[in-house]
Amino acid sequence: MAEPTHAATGPAPLSGGEGRAGVWTGATVRRLLPSDAIPAITGLLHRAYARQVAMGLRPLAGRQDDAVTARRVQSGECWVAVDQAGAIVGVIILSEREPDEGPPFFHRAGVVSFSQFAVEPSAQRGGIGRELLGRVAARARELGNSELALSMAEPDTQLRDYYLAKGFRIVGTWKWPYTNYTSLIMSRALRERGGSGAGLRRRLDGCNRDGARENHGV
Ligand SMILES: CC(C)(COP(=O)(O)OP(=O)(O)OC[C@H]1O[C@@H](n2cnc3c(N)ncnc32)[C@H](O)[C@@H]1OP(=O)(O)O)[C@@H](O)C(=O)NCCC(=O)NCCS
Repeated sequence: MAEPTHAATGPAPLSGGEGRAGVWTGATVRRLLPSDAIPAITGLLHRAYARQVAMGLRPLAGRQDDAVTARRVQSGECWVAVDQAGAIVGVIILSEREPDEGPPFFHRAGVVSFSQFAVEPSAQRGGIGRELLGRVAARARELGNSELALSMAEPDTQLRDYYLAKGFRIVGTWKWPYTNYTSLIMSRALRERGGSGAGLRRRLDGCNRDGARENHGV
């Protein structure tokens, strides 16, 4: 695996668990626990979004403080990837609470979105993102949805190509009030049986849905 690029405050360099070159098999995906450290997630987000920040973009996840992180992870269903040493190396939120305004596509029946998706830079391109996306897609189906959507910074063409390669299609654009760029709205059909089949967005267990206003830093 490549030399770690995360700052000294990040988790220890990943070692072991590589099934083949560049393929990380040592991370476990699970729900966020109350005992998980919020500052560790904030730090991970800042490191992961540093590339966009260096492009002159202002994604929320690249600059949010611990209070915002704490609020966001409670406002939807947060999943994390944890390495063998117990460090959080990936994060994603399914169905983060939306303000009333937002891309119309997100409000269609059967559509659920994910946000605050990031993997520790030193662990990227090893399959952790794929694991997190797969878990969230399965969960979205389980909740009865038929489409998994996202919002991403349009100027980040590398990221757009990542999602296109993963089967997402562009369904629109949106300008969130707290960013300095237009976002692409992308979505992918959830092809397997959709639970109840009605495409209803069920209430998520254990989600505290208060307050999130700035919820799509992706
Ligand atoms: C997006 C992100 C979460 C993906 O995590 P990851 O662990 O690197 O992703 P994976 O290792 O699972 O993906 C690797 C796959 O994507 C492909 N891939 C990786 N980067 C790619 C790119 N720039 N363009 C096209 N394909 C790409 C790899 O070839 C590999 O393909 P495979 O799944 O068929 O094997 C991670 O890059 C990240 O944190 N980025 C910064 C934060 C960010 O932009 N988040 C998304 C906001 S919407």
